[in-house]
Amino acid sequence: MEVLVAPGPEQAAERAAAAVLDGLARAAGPAPVLGLATGSSPLGLYRALGRAVAQGRADFADTHGVALDEYVGLPPGHPEGYRQVLLREVCSVVGLAPERLAVPDGSVADLDALERAAADYEARIAALGGVDVQILGIGANGHLGFNEPGSALASRTRVKRLSARTRRDNARFFPGADDVPTHCLTQGLGTILDARRLVLVATGDGKADAVAAALEGPLTASVPASVLQWHPDTVVCLDEDAAAGLRNRQYYDDSAAGLPES
Ligand code: GLP
Repeated sequence: MEVLVAPGPEQAAERAAAAVLDGLARAAGPAPVLGLATGSSPLGLYRALGRAVAQGRADFADTHGVALDEYVGLPPGHPEGYRQVLLREVCSVVGLAPERLAVPDGSVADLDALERAAADYEARIAALGGVDVQILGIGANGHLGFNEPGSALASRTRVKRLSARTRRDNARFFPGADDVPTHCLTQGLGTILDARRLVLVATGDGKADAVAAALEGPLTASVPASVLQWHPDTVVCLDEDAAAGLRNRQYYDDSAAGLPES
């Protein structure tokens, strides 16, 4: 696990963008597959990728985008549905083609249809050859995607109930707290672990406890983001505020400095 602590959120976003581009450059298949998170944490990273495109350092024309999760019950085209969010915040910013964006279909009405949508989504990811780089944020309760505390560490894409905390945290995107959907479709922790590289971005002191628990606490379903410890290629990009609870900070900084000059 590589833990990079930057002075502020913009520098953390730049480092995360570099980690994403580095991971995509190693993609083996004909078209790279980029896993996309919503939320405010990766917005700076998406803007940094957009700048890389503008400067000719990156090109997402052939890249497939794969969403982490989607709300259940929002009608197609709802502005806060994650398909629309990703079209606005990623596709139009980095030039990823909308027809290359895959999002689980949470608009279907009953449990059977949702379970089929979840299985279809797993099959879609497999048909693309798997995810090369998965971008992640972290919930203040340690959730990853919408895998709430208690999620099985080997879980696959499925329907999940949102926790009261997550619904409160996401109420800012809806007219009122009661308008936040109660359920979602989310890639499972096992699905996320299958990605060849994970890049997590967390900024601000509201994430400090979750980051410390995820990186330095036990591997446990009570802190879903602790599965990052299990993955062989995880890059964690933090600002100082989000890193405030880390005990091994000096070691991370020393490691980031690389080998001594000879
Ligand atoms: C959302 C998303 C997660 C995201 C998290 C944190 O609900 N489903 O993928 O990482 O919550 O959001 P934010 O970055 O806005 O704090």
